[in-house]
Amino acid sequence: MTDQAKASMRLRVDMNNMFDEYVGAGNGLTEAEINELIPALSTAHETLQANRGTGMTGWMTMPYEQEEIVADILDAAEEIKNNFDAFVVLGIGGSALGPTAIQFALNHMRWNELPKEKRNGFPKLYVEDNVDPERLEALFDVIDLKKTAFNVISKSGATSETMSQFLIIRDRLMKEVGDDWARHIYATTDAARGNLIKIVKQEGMRMFVIPDGVGGRFSEICPVGLLPAAVCGIDIRQMLAGCAYMDELCKVNDIEKNPAMLGAAAKYAAMMKGRNISVMMPYVDSLKYMADWYAQLWAESLGKKFDREGNEVRTGQTPVKSLGVTDQHSQVQLYAEGPHDKFITFIGVDNYRTVMPIPEGYDDIPDVSFLGGHTQNELIAAEQTATEFALLKQNQMNRTITLPEVNAFTVGELMYYFMMETAYCGELLNIDAYNQPGVEEGKNATYALLGRPGYEEKRAEIEARPAKNPRWII
Ligand code: PA5
Repeated sequence: MTDQAKASMRLRVDMNNMFDEYVGAGNGLTEAEINELIPALSTAHETLQANRGTGMTGWMTMPYEQEEIVADILDAAEEIKNNFDAFVVLGIGGSALGPTAIQFALNHMRWNELPKEKRNGFPKLYVEDNVDPERLEALFDVIDLKKTAFNVISKSGATSETMSQFLIIRDRLMKEVGDDWARHIYATTDAARGNLIKIVKQEGMRMFVIPDGVGGRFSEICPVGLLPAAVCGIDIRQMLAGCAYMDELCKVNDIEKNPAMLGAAAKYAAMMKGRNISVMMPYVDSLKYMADWYAQLWAESLGKKFDREGNEVRTGQTPVKSLGVTDQHSQVQLYAEGPHDKFITFIGVDNYRTVMPIPEGYDDIPDVSFLGGHTQNELIAAEQTATEFALLKQNQMNRTITLPEVNAFTVGELMYYFMMETAYCGELLNIDAYNQPGVEEGKNATYALLGRPGYEEKRAEIEARPAKNPRWII
């Protein structure tokens, strides 16, 4: 791609509606507040750039250093395409939300319903990220195990949800395909640590590595996300090129040139003003699962009890997933007239990948006939502008991110943008944006309840909970 072609695909971030001038005096940010943040943000930038690729910022160098891995992934994708009709991801959290978001953004919205030739021979994709027994049973009803490959994704190899799925699948495969069962499994895990790598070695399964320094929610641009994407024919090189393009923009220590720096400053300042909710509202149906991926990134990274010095800070901002125009008829009433405790990020697109004209009709009913001669493209764009206008009138902060079009390059840009914004905010909040200690308690309690050795004390602690008051159980 030429520099000009890349520039034509640059996403735009419009922050105007976050400011007092637009959202109404006293309801938004001031320029002075943003300027005050510049020294801290500048330090955050220097720290991130100085440490890029080290510690837990391994994701920052991923756009550049995966040529060999990409080649291996494409070979595996070809093999899978030639041998299987379905590809099932077994994973949860960072191992599932990215693959789902990418598939829905970049492939046909009804991919699994298309006949194989309309999928260009690529397999169907299922992402199984729950352990409700009905879910897996339903999957078994629609796949043919003999023609299905599974991608077990777990960095730790200790995640009960994923490992339980693996055990069930392994058992079914052994019964159905016999000795060849391991040929149906591709593992994606840490190269040295954890249980999955032990199993991989023991069973001789094929595997891809989750590099050091890449946590679950930052792993979409490593084999975790790249393998399922490539298996469904998505141009993963373009995705990485989009990430690299955004990374270059984010290398500049200047809030007026670096979009993620400005985004982080505005979001942090909004947080400090009591905007505790971050609504993500794409007006692009194909990006609806991007809001799920963002929700995990934002929630797990910034929701922290302690800062790096161990002070109790209880930071974070609650992400809310929303979809334009669908949620105009569900949540927008609250966004407009409810409390000033949130800001909304709209995601729009200059060009949808298709045009849907609205035919003329019912001249005698003007409330219907005015739509004729327009397109759904015009309608959704008008509704996005109208919602932005309506929220502004109610003094509700919002911003708009616009993609020239949805493609592998712009989706790579968008994801990398959000990861950078998160990293900057983590620095500003002085917290570890890459751990998730709050999740551990629940995981350990689950182990204890299921009798995992070593968790006897935890079990006793659970059993010592105060007895329930029957009055509150009806
Ligand atoms: O962002 C994270 O680190 C988590 O959401 C993990 O992806 C999730 O808990 C799954 O962990 P693992 O990959 O170890 O199975």
